[in-house]
Amino acid sequence: MTLGWTLFIAILVAAQVIGAAWLMIASSRTTIGEGSTTGHVWDGDVVEGNNPLPRWWLGLFWLTIAFTLIYVALYPSFGSFSLLGWSEISQYDRELDDAEKSYGKLFASFASTPIEQLAKDPAALSAGRNLFVNNCAQCHGSDARGARGFPNLTDEEWLYGGKPSEIEASIKGGHTGVMPGFGAGLPEDTRNLLADYVQHLAGREIDAARVEQGHPLFTANCSACHGANGEGNQLLGAPKLANEIWLHGAGRATIFDVITNGRMNQMPPQEPVLGADRVHVLAAYVYSLSKRE
Ligand code: HEC
Ligand code: HEC
Repeated sequence: MTLGWTLFIAILVAAQVIGAAWLMIASSRTTIGEGSTTGHVWDGDVVEGNNPLPRWWLGLFWLTIAFTLIYVALYPSFGSFSLLGWSEISQYDRELDDAEKSYGKLFASFASTPIEQLAKDPAALSAGRNLFVNNCAQCHGSDARGARGFPNLTDEEWLYGGKPSEIEASIKGGHTGVMPGFGAGLPEDTRNLLADYVQHLAGREIDAARVEQGHPLFTANCSACHGANGEGNQLLGAPKLANEIWLHGAGRATIFDVITNGRMNQMPPQEPVLGADRVHVLAAYVYSLSKRE
């Protein structure tokens, strides 16, 4: 809290306490004669008395002021001043530490087990599922089946490899997949030929003459990353094109758009956020999703 706010709050609190005390002293000092009235009369003969507060009642007010003074000294209400050193932030940090002590141990206990083996351990999978729902589901979906632009993690198709060590590396370090746009580099009819050729690779019926025209264009512009027959390249995260699994959506219009405008896709690195032990458990969970025996 800045000094300005601390002063502002401290002055308000002090003014309130002093004001309340003054009010009580002032009102208990006025001496009022027995039987005096405020002068208000109702229904002809009902008069409003003007008597001092009973002592026990006044005492209660003094007690509340004493309570306020003790509370203000112990907990931060005079700006951030507190004799106990308590603050919401310190309490939050303490709770985080406690949670880390109990859960951290759980994840550390899985750290030395190989992923293949961990993927058969129900306790590890249940912990992995919780981590996935909290940290990954917003992009990959709570069932891990992905969405347009976010890969499905439950199938056998991998951008960066599906071996346990490869999955763990993907989660740890993240990835950036870059498909360059050819809108400026290739004329529209060439990009149309390439879109048809990609559909041909995926198994669609395409006019043989167009496939023949498309083949050398693909070899010249695309095969360096996607492979000579569109088999993909996991070092670059270039998807296999020779199947009907699409990261950015099926359909000729989408394929043409990807070729024209390119795509830049990011998997954020998780080790800095979650630590190596949690990543290990997540890798086992993801591995288990695609390996249902
Ligand atoms: C902000 C969105 C986002 C979050 C959060 C996210 N991912 Fe990803 N993830 C992606 C994208 C996008 C890709 C594909 C990157 C590419 O196309 O190069 C990806 C790729 C992957 C891959 C590689 C898939 C393959 O086919 O090789 C794995 C494994 C993965 N994510 C697991 C996870 C796990 C586990 C978490 C949670 C700890 C997670 N991701 C959180 C967006 C996200
Ligand atoms: C520099 C390497 C590189 C080159 C060259 C390249 N691509 Fe790509 N391409 C990629 C990468 C990487 C991705 C995945 C982008 C991502 O992670 O989202 C991709 C994605 C695609 C996709 C989307 C696939 C899907 O599953 O949705 C299509 C279609 C595609 N490329 C076609 C082509 C064609 C046609 C050419 C040649 C004109 C080409 N690419 C050239 C790297 C390349």
